[in-house]
Amino acid sequence: MEAPRSRLIPRLLLVWLVVKSSAPGARCNHARLRLSHKELWDANRTRVFHSPRGSLGVHTMLLDEYQERLFVGGRDAIYSLSLEHVDHRHKEIHWPSTATQEDECLMKGREKSECGNYIKVLHQYNRTHLLACGTGAFDPVCAFIRAGHSKEDGLFELEAHRVESGRGRCPFDPNSPCTSTFSRGQLYVGLYTDYWENDAAVCRLDDRSHTRTERDDGQQLNEPKFVGSAVIPDNDDQDDDKVYFFFTEKASGADGGNNAVYTRIGRVCANDVGGRRMLVNKWSSFVKTRLMCSVPAPNGIDTHFDELVDVYVLRKKDERNPEIFGLFGTTSSVFKGYAVCAYRMEDIRAAFNGPYAHRESPEHQWSAFQGRVPFPRPGSCASRVNGGHYSSSRDFPDETLRFVRAHPLMQEPIRPVHRRPVLLRTHTDQRFTHIAVDRVEAQDGHYNVLFIGTDGAKVLKVITIYNKDSDSVEEVLLEELQVFKVPVPITEILISAKRQQLYIGSEFGVAQVRAHQCDLYGSACADCCLARDPYCAWDGVTCSRYYPAGIYTKRRFRRQDVRHGNALQQCDGIQINGERPAEAQEKWVFGVERNSTLLDCSPRSPQAKVLWFLKRGPDKDEVKTNDRVVQTPQGLLFLQLQREDTGAYLCQTAERGFVHTVARFSLEVLEEERLRGVIHRDNEDGRELSQSPCPLPGRLQGSTSRLWYKEFLQLIGYSNFHKVEEYCERVWCSDWNRKKLKSLPPKWRYPQTQERRGRARGEQLRAPRHALDTPW
Ligand SMILES: *[C@@H]1O[C@H](CO)[C@@H](O)[C@H](O)[C@H]1NC(C)=O
Ligand SMILES: *[C@@H]1O[C@H](CO)[C@@H](O)[C@H](O)[C@H]1NC(C)=O
Ligand SMILES: *[C@@H]1O[C@H](CO)[C@@H](O)[C@H](O)[C@H]1NC(C)=O
Repeated sequence: MEAPRSRLIPRLLLVWLVVKSSAPGARCNHARLRLSHKELWDANRTRVFHSPRGSLGVHTMLLDEYQERLFVGGRDAIYSLSLEHVDHRHKEIHWPSTATQEDECLMKGREKSECGNYIKVLHQYNRTHLLACGTGAFDPVCAFIRAGHSKEDGLFELEAHRVESGRGRCPFDPNSPCTSTFSRGQLYVGLYTDYWENDAAVCRLDDRSHTRTERDDGQQLNEPKFVGSAVIPDNDDQDDDKVYFFFTEKASGADGGNNAVYTRIGRVCANDVGGRRMLVNKWSSFVKTRLMCSVPAPNGIDTHFDELVDVYVLRKKDERNPEIFGLFGTTSSVFKGYAVCAYRMEDIRAAFNGPYAHRESPEHQWSAFQGRVPFPRPGSCASRVNGGHYSSSRDFPDETLRFVRAHPLMQEPIRPVHRRPVLLRTHTDQRFTHIAVDRVEAQDGHYNVLFIGTDGAKVLKVITIYNKDSDSVEEVLLEELQVFKVPVPITEILISAKRQQLYIGSEFGVAQVRAHQCDLYGSACADCCLARDPYCAWDGVTCSRYYPAGIYTKRRFRRQDVRHGNALQQCDGIQINGERPAEAQEKWVFGVERNSTLLDCSPRSPQAKVLWFLKRGPDKDEVKTNDRVVQTPQGLLFLQLQREDTGAYLCQTAERGFVHTVARFSLEVLEEERLRGVIHRDNEDGRELSQSPCPLPGRLQGSTSRLWYKEFLQLIGYSNFHKVEEYCERVWCSDWNRKKLKSLPPKWRYPQTQERRGRARGEQLRAPRHALDTPW
């Protein structure tokens, strides 16, 4: 079971994986909305808190919806920010390392930057106090913070007289991986407890007791990297509450080879106080198993994502059954990628209730333990599940303790929901650093909206939709938000469901970003519908926040279809302000034979497919592209125009069955020889060569210019007279706008180009007497 298959993947499989994930229609890596930091500002959607001390170095954040505060642990400081406006009226506790701590730190050969007090642990301790622990220049410290218990009292003070050692609660090194969770007055931590980072432990430390994993026991923890933790109840009996830890560790012994890393989920009973004769002050309930996130392949050799990057526990009304989301990377040096897998508690519990893994010696393979399992079941809690015979883990029989000590690993791994990732990125230059998930009620059900932070200060907003019939997951990338001006890694994302705000931490600061901005998708019903954002619906006028029925029952008119994005069905026949949406106006484009020209047309949605049609009479044929006619993201590019290219072109976008005409063009191809003849004559006259058919003011005075112009009209046919006018105004003579000119004083009425030309040749500028009353 534990063979590190991911390292054995043949390249072919990787190719298959890459091709599969980029198959058209299946997944789309283009966000519907891509907003720069400035665009977020301009839309009034973000605010950023910058530390008055320069870099902030956010390691931990805590949301307090009741007091409407966001607590932020940074370097040498803890901040209390307003949830409403993070950049308004913040409070700060300055808590640096002491001079002695810093001197000792520097004497140990550490950099000055490492000798700060980095706040790594921050929890609501009770109604009035927070518990905070910092690295204290490689001398960890903990203290209480008086935060008051109402918005009004505005308290925010360090209880400086009660600062105590933070050993066993906070790591020494600011970069050391560590996780902690707080429940019923107890702090549970996964960390390295010593200066040299030799002693990894999962522990609980309070005034009364100290319980931890065994020291130097590679079976329990093997060079772990702690990622996350959570207390999750099993049932109504508090004594059955479990503390779950998420970490990666080296695969041990024969299976692993040297570098294989696995993601683990480990757990202990919250009330575990260790044994009486053996396992004194050691967990009597520590068990763990593998958390799998892999892509099934047709040949049965799955591709594994083994390195847990971040984990998010999505709490629901039923406290016992949150949904767990893991963000995973690959350990392979051959290919880099990320995957998000979702897990159900029932699958997690089933694995812990299943067989224990067993091997005769480190040289043997793991297999399911077949012998007799003692009672109470190793890994269970001193609670009612064991018939109420044991009021404490100290009462457990030695046999149970001995067994759990020898068998901390479960045989069955935990597989994700649908047995595949809900999100997969196999070719990306972004590194994913963080994940948070919001559960959103939409018209057609509930959706998990994933917010994924990158190393480049971006947050991706994604929904994933499982299709039962095809057993596949569709990924809809709604938005890509550049949250900070500088490309720093995102280190924290918290969601306030109540406020519909995200709070995003980095070295640079803390950004507050609204989770949605529906109007940016466009005001038309189809734009709103096709966006498939569960936060948004079309309300008859515009795209706006969707509220489930019951909150605003008066709103009759809501159009939303997240699952299918079927705008055709949702928006058919809908008129905007009493009119049908305007059809795209026809544009004239003149090109010269053998030269290149571009019909520009970029779709509103990057997820739409662009189709080009050529209309000849009543028929409409799709344009055949080849090495001369190329479809580009900017439009249709003719590398070498031919006379036959003349015609009416239609640029349409198709998205989920909804077809929209974005642009129409009438392309005229000017014959090369005739044009050259005209230009040539123009040139003989001593005037400069120009391809412009437009009568510039000065030029019209010369007879040849008139001739030139006349010939040009002949060339394209007098019937197209108005087209040339229109064309000239818009394209080649855009700076010669008669309306504008008339409003300017006479000396400004020269077109810039003409003036520059005249000056260059040392000519006097002639008054443009007839310039404005040209024959047309
Ligand atoms: C920006 O949003 C805030 C609320 O977050 C509001 O008070 C303010 O009026 C908005 N400003 C603009 C220009 O829309
Ligand atoms: C919260 O805990 C602190 C620190 O132990 C203590 O001083 C304070 O009285 C407690 N507050 C309440 C309301 O229990
Ligand atoms: C061909 O097009 C380019 C730019 O599109 C232009 O600079 C050039 O003058 C054109 N040549 C002729 C002969 O029209």
